[in-house]
Amino acid sequence: VTPVGIMGTGIRVPERVLTNEDLERMVDTSDEWIRTRTGIRERHIAAENEAASDLAIGAARRALEDARVSPEELDLIIVATNSPDMLFPATACLVQDALGAGRAGAFDLQAGCTGFLYALACGGQFVATGTAKRVLVIGAEVLSPLINWQDRNTCVLFGDGAGAVVLGPVPEGYGILATRLGSEGRGAPLISLPGGLSRHPASAETLAGNQHFIHMNGREVFKFAVKVMIDGCLEILQAAGLAADQLDCLIPHQANIRIIEAAAKRLELPMDRVWVNVDRYGNTSAASIPLALHEALTAGRIKNGDNVVMVAFGAGLTWGAMALRW
Ligand code: ACO
Repeated sequence: VTPVGIMGTGIRVPERVLTNEDLERMVDTSDEWIRTRTGIRERHIAAENEAASDLAIGAARRALEDARVSPEELDLIIVATNSPDMLFPATACLVQDALGAGRAGAFDLQAGCTGFLYALACGGQFVATGTAKRVLVIGAEVLSPLINWQDRNTCVLFGDGAGAVVLGPVPEGYGILATRLGSEGRGAPLISLPGGLSRHPASAETLAGNQHFIHMNGREVFKFAVKVMIDGCLEILQAAGLAADQLDCLIPHQANIRIIEAAAKRLELPMDRVWVNVDRYGNTSAASIPLALHEALTAGRIKNGDNVVMVAFGAGLTWGAMALRW
């Protein structure tokens, strides 16, 4: 097996920022409630003509530049998203065309907020087996049109954005050390967007019942999240042969600061070894991990030889963890 690592990263977020104060004028909420319950201060929201592929393409161009890889060198493009431009064609095909990645296969992958880690694991396998040499993996979301802006339980939580990475072969001992993916399908009703497809085709009833928007049982998701973030980190450290104090940087899914802090506390990991940006972006679902990873790298918080763990949970329910050496 060829060792696989991340050769470059890039991000793209919409220009428009929606603050908690803006939300106070839209629903019965307060900056204080949102900050103390979630850690979120503001989030980026796409413009009306901005879809997931637009953000994905922007992030991809920057990642390719960072990796010094040209679009023609790409063998495969995987877009992890829960908010594709359309159900089909795949958003990855729109990205392939815009980049001019003439040799690349392209498909979307959907695994809730864990989607980026699922896509990274999947793309990594193609490189590990020698089937592909350069794989572009993107997490991209424009969730804002899928949100009921009158539902304070959900509308304060989410944001739009995209992050991309280029995967390729790396020297022995570097790159992906271990991967673990999990699911608990019996939690499927806890986060869903039920309307408009084969189970509940679009109708006057699905529209009237807000079935085309995200529904979530926040309290139950919270319990699942804390459990799998902790168990996921412990399992992946063991699989990678690392002690907790050998972990240099944790990149957790950015849904809620309380979930992140609970995991860090259980791992006895000081918060300066955990990258947090939920305050500025909210929960960007499949884009959250690549956004955080890119920022941690840019800030110099991940250096050559560092051990990094990424961990996420999301709709499905799904969860995943990955350990890498930089
Ligand atoms: N402003 C003011 N009050 C609110 C708001 C708001 N925006 N939202 C909810 N409340 C109220 C509720 O109505 C409730 O009132 P009640 O007790 O009178 O019914 C009260 O606040 C407390 O609600 P809880 O659900 O107990 O609040 P909690 O502390 O659990 O925080 C939260 C809610 C932030 C949603 C939390 O449960 C959470 O973060 N859960 C995880 C969600 C998550 O990560 N989702 C992403 C999934 S990933 C994916 O795949 C999309």
